[in-house]
Amino acid sequence: MSLSRRKLLGTAAVAAAAAKAARAAPAVSRPVAVSSANGMRAVERAVRGMNAGEDPLDAAIAGVNIVEDDPADMTVGYGGVPNEEGVVQLDACVMHGPTARAGAVASLEGVKNPSKVARLVMQTTDHILLVGPGARHFATMNGFPVENLLTEKARKVWLFWKQNLSDNDKWLEPDPAHYDPDVKAFIDEFGWDDLRRPKSGGTIHLSALNARGDLAGCTTTSGLFFKMPGRVGDSPIIGAGCFTDNDVGSAGSTGRGEANILVSGGHLTVEFMRQGKHPRDACLMTLERIARTTKERRLLNAQGRPNFSIAFYAVNKQGQYGGATMYSHGSTGKRRQFAVADASGARKEDTVYLFEGRV
Ligand code: GLY
Repeated sequence: MSLSRRKLLGTAAVAAAAAKAARAAPAVSRPVAVSSANGMRAVERAVRGMNAGEDPLDAAIAGVNIVEDDPADMTVGYGGVPNEEGVVQLDACVMHGPTARAGAVASLEGVKNPSKVARLVMQTTDHILLVGPGARHFATMNGFPVENLLTEKARKVWLFWKQNLSDNDKWLEPDPAHYDPDVKAFIDEFGWDDLRRPKSGGTIHLSALNARGDLAGCTTTSGLFFKMPGRVGDSPIIGAGCFTDNDVGSAGSTGRGEANILVSGGHLTVEFMRQGKHPRDACLMTLERIARTTKERRLLNAQGRPNFSIAFYAVNKQGQYGGATMYSHGSTGKRRQFAVADASGARKEDTVYLFEGRV
């Protein structure tokens, strides 16, 4: 499909999705927290904290810490899927609207709450981003324990991936009739149809707005499954994985980080909100930009559309919020959703999307 045809399709999809969502728009309230779908407990905790007077960034971090600590979420913190050498490397960033400050860590090993370390980079240093051994040294200087973050389930999944990687190595492919139950559960959860090219999923972004109209954002992840050692995604990149402007709003992303970095999607989404766009539409417009600027054949499907999943979440200073995904459904056929909490409690809502279908 030609680029102009894809552009037209995308623009029509943005307009149609925006009109549909506008009809269903709920009333706004503050505080509000919005996150990826894996953040139900996180948004609930963040709003509870803000209601009790917590700073929006502290509330956001306390929320995502629940997911970082949870070994059942294999895309964030403890229990995350490791890199190609079996080592869990974590990325995170935080941004505080009222002070317009930010902090981040990347490729951090052995510390399960990279969001807390990112906050200390922001609060106690002249820097914004610390990586690898430097980030770990900084964390240990600040009293963070160094732990083994690789759970048994994540180790088995990594070994299974290695065993299936090539016919030309010395590993034998496991017999499908005798897959380990943990591996089978993982395959079902993430919808692996090609074992050599497993799809990645997950990460958590959370943006928060308190009753006074102050904003904050936080993104934390274990990154793409089996990434190259040292690979850094969008999550710790201010302006990509997260961006917060206290005059306008806060936004962040989950999904293929490389695609987000190329358009500075967090910043772009906030700029669309600055132009008056509803957060939901701002997220969709950023996805449309990504679709238009994805040109490499290996990243396109037969229709010329991106063959990867990516999502944006945003809240503006008024308390309007939204979440948008490239595709309507995930690889397992589940409708894409995001999490939100406000005066009506915590819930999941369907995302608006650029393209109907699965990825
Ligand atoms: N968005 C998460 C990553 O690409 O690592």
